[in-house]
Amino acid sequence: MKNEDNVILIVDDVSINIQMIKEILNEDNIYKFIFATNGNQAVAVTRKAKPDLILLDIIMSGMNGFEVCEVLKASSETADIPIIFLTAKTESEAIVRGFELGAVDYITKPFQKDELLARVRTHLKLRQSERALRENKKNLERLVQEELEKRRKQEELLIQKSKLESLGRLAAGIAHEINQPLAGIAMGVENILLRTVNKRIDKEYLKHECEFLLQDVDRIKHIIEHIRIFSREQQSVFFENVDIKEVVENALLMVGKQYENHNIKFLLELEENIAPVFGNKYKLEQALLNLLSNSKDALEDKSRSETKLIKIRTYQDTEKICLEVEDNGKGISEEDVEKLFEPFFTTKSPDKGTGLGLSITYGIIKEMRGEISVQSKAGEYSRIKISLPKIINQ
Ligand SMILES: Nc1ncnc2c1ncn2[C@@H]1O[C@H](COP(=O)(O)OP(=O)(O)OP(=O)(O)O)[C@@H](O)[C@H]1O
Ligand SMILES: [Mg+2]
Repeated sequence: MKNEDNVILIVDDVSINIQMIKEILNEDNIYKFIFATNGNQAVAVTRKAKPDLILLDIIMSGMNGFEVCEVLKASSETADIPIIFLTAKTESEAIVRGFELGAVDYITKPFQKDELLARVRTHLKLRQSERALRENKKNLERLVQEELEKRRKQEELLIQKSKLESLGRLAAGIAHEINQPLAGIAMGVENILLRTVNKRIDKEYLKHECEFLLQDVDRIKHIIEHIRIFSREQQSVFFENVDIKEVVENALLMVGKQYENHNIKFLLELEENIAPVFGNKYKLEQALLNLLSNSKDALEDKSRSETKLIKIRTYQDTEKICLEVEDNGKGISEEDVEKLFEPFFTTKSPDKGTGLGLSITYGIIKEMRGEISVQSKAGEYSRIKISLPKIINQ
């Protein structure tokens, strides 16, 4: 805003004073003036014209300057307008009262030209800076709001993408898992057909072969049943006693074959008769699947001649049940370890990772009152350890 835009309201019941002030300030030739000769008029004019500065006489008949000031400061519409009191008195009492009521300054009569000019200029400048600051603040707030909204939308998209990707990964896993028994069934049926054609079939052989076929059919049924419950119970808040060994076995049922097809060997050290933990077994399975998926990615760059290993270990100590997933993949740098559980932290390309796997896992483990920690050496191994409170006397 330029100075020319500044409107000054002069309030005095003696018109000669108004005239004098106007003449002095006209030296700057950049202000517009409005006037009031009593308190009520001053309030009405201020509400209507919203001046940039008010020069307000204290002693007036009817509503005095202090009262006008009180009324204006009480309304949010006019509270910000700076008020300079014009006082014939030099008594400190009146000046202090004026400041207490929210005035920014005072000028004593008779007016000193330079003083009047200097004070008016200073307060108008201050007002301008204040306005600019407020405007900046508003702009800044708007920008922050816009940025936050943008990020929220991006995060929503990423979460959606991550869900789709884990679904994709799971689907790929399931395809592998079902493929194997299906191949068994196909081979069995072909054999039966061949023997039927060659009339070499006997009852005993047929019984034996059908038993094998049924085993494969059962395996597929088992996998499909598990997937069905898994996808439903994922959203559930239902907690129960969970056998961690069963969680590992179910996770392997979902992805084990797929990993083996990637030449990954599993080393299982699952302690027998381990005490249960309290939680949701499908969510825990999801947590483990997330760790396994990271291990698989970490092993990706290893050459065929190198052994790709994932070790899954479950054991108990006095208070905790522990589940460890260790791989001999590319490991994690010290710098990255710090950020591992942060949502959206990823070192993978956008089509490979969203950086949500471990933060979701962290959330699941925290919900079960557990801890999750990581040990790793870049280029050598990573070991993620989950420890959960043990349910005793069950
Ligand atoms: N076993 C591991 N070996 C090496 N690096 C790992 C391992 N586990 C996690 N990381 C590192 O931690 C990062 C974050 O893992 P997180 O599972 O949260 O996300 P992501 O795997 O990148 O993506 P998403 O799981 O959402 O597909 C990974 O990008 C990777 O750099
Ligand atoms: Mg991951």
